[in-house]
Amino acid sequence: MLFADDQAFAQRLDAQDPLRACRELFEIPPAARVIAAGESRGAGHAAAPAGQPCVYLTGNSLGCMPKGVRQALADELDDWSHLGVEGHLHGRNPWLPYHECFRHVGARLVGARPGEVVMMNSLTVNLHLLMVSFYRPNSSRYKILIEDAAFPSDSYAVASQAEYHGRDAEDAVMRLRPRPGERTLRTEDILQVIADHGKRIALVMLGGVNYLTSQWFDMAAITAAAKAQGCTVGWDLAHAAGNVPLKLHEWGVDFAAWCSYKYLNAGPGAVAGAFVHEEHAKRLDLPRFAGWWGNDPETRFRMGPQFVARQGADGWQLSNPPILAMAPLRVSLDIFDRVGMDALREKSLRLTAYMEWLIDRIPGNAQGELVEIVTPRDPAQRGCALSLVIKSDPRGAVEKLKRAAVVCDFREPNILRAAPVPLYNSYHDVWSFVQTLRTAFA
Ligand SMILES: Cc1ncc(COP(=O)(O)O)c(C=O)c1O
Repeated sequence: MLFADDQAFAQRLDAQDPLRACRELFEIPPAARVIAAGESRGAGHAAAPAGQPCVYLTGNSLGCMPKGVRQALADELDDWSHLGVEGHLHGRNPWLPYHECFRHVGARLVGARPGEVVMMNSLTVNLHLLMVSFYRPNSSRYKILIEDAAFPSDSYAVASQAEYHGRDAEDAVMRLRPRPGERTLRTEDILQVIADHGKRIALVMLGGVNYLTSQWFDMAAITAAAKAQGCTVGWDLAHAAGNVPLKLHEWGVDFAAWCSYKYLNAGPGAVAGAFVHEEHAKRLDLPRFAGWWGNDPETRFRMGPQFVARQGADGWQLSNPPILAMAPLRVSLDIFDRVGMDALREKSLRLTAYMEWLIDRIPGNAQGELVEIVTPRDPAQRGCALSLVIKSDPRGAVEKLKRAAVVCDFREPNILRAAPVPLYNSYHDVWSFVQTLRTAFA
């Protein structure tokens, strides 16, 4: 792709962007508020023109608020105030089958079939519930394979699952490490570990897109290789759902879970997603932690003591859906459904390539002397985010970005993660970010 480094070029790309209207669907935090929040942490003073939005590049942490969320919440509050318990059946979006409204949109988002996806709980809870069913260690096959740089919650979850089964977690959990001197994992190395140790691995559970390096793993190849060895395969899609196109059904993934507050923009702590492959839908023999919402709706209200699992992912639900938490999800998933992951990916590839191109041209950074891009250079191995190692005074650079109302995510000791999200970020956002970095380093 051919790019130029002047501001007018960024503005031209925005003018030609077929998705430019999507930005209007979101509330981008105002620059002045972001700067004021920085000041209260002692970040110093800077002025921002009133009303101007910040450069928000942290949709991989918490996505921006869709404007439609206020009305969606107001509708549910109105129904609650006017209908009380009758809202379960007579609300404008009846609460009783509320989770079912995600059946199709949720499935399309991750390349699943209707019935394979349910929205419920939060991410770590879903990983645990699914591991209860899908981590079934025996004396010879009990290992769990994860990335060494897995998100801490995943490390805790797999270790505690191993211990729950009476295993020593140190022995049970295998961690994939990059080659010495390298920062990301090579697919060939992952496949080799699976080939060498597959017969002892009960569960492969990686992050589809790694949270720290933003590396998108070859999910199809890893799933196929692990399943050929008889392993069960689950994916944590926190940084993949809504970021990259997924084909969970086709790839034969056994289970997956993701949160909805990052790329899916459903709000802080939003209700998460879970996928269970159709091949397990009818396996009513699978052990699970049961609750009444996972019971067959035909018999749920007979209130008997005998649990009869509903077929499909719905059968893993425990409780009735939290309507006020789910209302934003309706708005956000509807946006994804209307725009489509293909169109988003097309813009995402260009937006991220543009950011990469500009970073490579920061004066004095030809060999990554100032900022090293850790995320793979191959677009097929990444989503929209780039993880950057800031070589000197990373905290200073972060504060300078904040004072210029550029919001990124920082992970100690020196990793800055910048996610140009195709739904609401512009090429001009990317240009402003790199421009601010340039001045920070100057
Ligand atoms: C990859 C990954 N896994 C798990 C979690 C934990 O999510 P939750 O707090 O929703 O359980 C996060 C949170 O950011 C994450 O990025």
